Amino acid sequence: MDVEKLTADPAEQRLIAELLQAGQEHLFADWDPPGTNEEAKAAFRESLMHINRAYPDGLLGYIAKARKFLSEVREGENPFEGFEPHQPDKVDLTRFDADYDRYEALGKSHFEKTAVVLVAGGLGERLGYSGIKLDIPVEVTETVSYLAHYAACLKAMETRMNTPHPVPFIIMTSADTHAKTVASLEANSRFGLKEEQIHILKQEPVPAIADNDGHLALKEKYKLILKPHGHGDIHMLLHSSGLAAELEKQGIEHLVFIQDTNGQVFNAIPAALGVSVEKGFDFNSLGVNRIPGEAVGGLARLVKGDREMTLNVEYHQLDPLLRATVSPEGDVPDEQGFSMFPGNINVLLIRLAPYVKILERTRGVIAEFINPKYTDETKTTFKKPTRLETLMQDLPKFFGPDEKVGVSIFDRKWCFSANKNNVADAAAKHAAGSPPESGATAESDFYLAGRMKLAAAGMEVTPAEEQLILGIPFTPGPRVLLRPSFATTLDEVRSKISGGSISGEATLILDGKDIFLENVELPGPSALVIKACDGARVTVKNLKVENDGFELVKLTDEEQNSTATPEYLRIRGYRIENRGAAVYEFNEPGEYTL
Ligand code: UTP
Repeated sequence: MDVEKLTADPAEQRLIAELLQAGQEHLFADWDPPGTNEEAKAAFRESLMHINRAYPDGLLGYIAKARKFLSEVREGENPFEGFEPHQPDKVDLTRFDADYDRYEALGKSHFEKTAVVLVAGGLGERLGYSGIKLDIPVEVTETVSYLAHYAACLKAMETRMNTPHPVPFIIMTSADTHAKTVASLEANSRFGLKEEQIHILKQEPVPAIADNDGHLALKEKYKLILKPHGHGDIHMLLHSSGLAAELEKQGIEHLVFIQDTNGQVFNAIPAALGVSVEKGFDFNSLGVNRIPGEAVGGLARLVKGDREMTLNVEYHQLDPLLRATVSPEGDVPDEQGFSMFPGNINVLLIRLAPYVKILERTRGVIAEFINPKYTDETKTTFKKPTRLETLMQDLPKFFGPDEKVGVSIFDRKWCFSANKNNVADAAAKHAAGSPPESGATAESDFYLAGRMKLAAAGMEVTPAEEQLILGIPFTPGPRVLLRPSFATTLDEVRSKISGGSISGEATLILDGKDIFLENVELPGPSALVIKACDGARVTVKNLKVENDGFELVKLTDEEQNSTATPEYLRIRGYRIENRGAAVYEFNEPGEYTL
């Protein structure tokens, strides 16, 4: 094939010549004669050049790696061969006790040296929401989106610092989410965050591979199939942007990695941060008690001779590993019904100093792998094109004996409740005994965390009975929203709330740093909403609130199926309507009593 006929550009010529040498002739076969379809050809050449620039090892490096990994998959190589799983170095934070308070206080004192990294480049295919997941309201009493909630958490961290400064906020987007994420931030004045604290890093897709020979897959003539490379790209981008090193220079010591739809995560971050600091963990994974067989990786310390590493073992690899080593029966429940190893929820706290060194060494290209689905056991053809992937939790594969990896275990619903599945799949998951992880369960758990905080402060909390809405469990109350501005730790909740009771479908919303409740009674469906600006100190004493509050209204079949109903309601099956909640807003500093 004559490269000069394909392009006049010398750089393009070089790349095409290399691709031809690497067996990629099919990309340029059947090209139209010169003068025909020149625009499409130019766009195709530019897409090859773009990938070649964006991928750290270049396009040829990518293809070579894909071939190597594919041959290893065919050989059936076991990455854990010879390793024996042991319990990781873990701290149990499933109970609110004195240790919990100590870790929270320590974590809170470390907010000044912490940055938050949000990976939000995922397609969200399972949820099938038409917008970005970050724009979905985490609750529909006041309709606050995930992005707004995360921003409020960062602002709350800032106001708890000795010398307040904005918490750096790094958001990873992709071609699928970038424009809408930027638009959402702009349309909402960045939810009160400062422009200079937000750093958006866009991940690039990678080309799909069609077969075991590593041929790049074409969607049509002059068009590659591109696929997401996975959330592990965040490491590469934090390196290539220079941001990780820059944050270290600014005095940041820990990065907290969070995901797009986990409204619970900031409940656990202060204590987890305290664990990272006290235990000196370079890599601290939030873990939960894992149900055997569930599609959640297990966190284990893998030991082989004098080598050891604490890693997330993907759920499909865990059972065979256990059978081959410590548990011939496989991934079976213990006396409490849990799997032997804690489950990974992929909330990670990474110490910046060793991280920057590892990024320099690896350029942030972390443990890529390939996971082709073959048509049969001969492993000759794929069901559909595959690609290299990378997962952010695999970073400890690059750790040596000096880096310390640990796990902080929390009550699952306190630290993790994602909105990943559409209503039909969520109902099916519930029927099968798995967490539904839907819009409704995420919202239900969001209120639950509020109830847990009230109960920890000694308020009497009587929950309403769980219902099924579209086959998905939902506890309709009390709906408690203690906004991040109100409290970042249990200790703060305790210092502001004492006595009182709340029951049934009552609602309590507190937004503001200086709101104090003493012996407040809220029988369902009564609702009390207090919003106080900075400097407004509001005390509510010996008050029984009685009104018609907010009502949970299930969508009719017609509403459920109508595109006139907002999509964020249809992904949960209900709306919440104000029937006369008591709402108090204090927009001027001062002392107020109710
Ligand atoms: P999920 O496992 O929820 O995957 O990602 P997803 O792609 O968003 O959703 P499905 O699988 O298509 O239904 C976990 C987190 O990682 C981010 C997601 O945005 C989410 O916060 N992610 C995932 C990325 O940032 N980039 C990726 O390439 C993949």
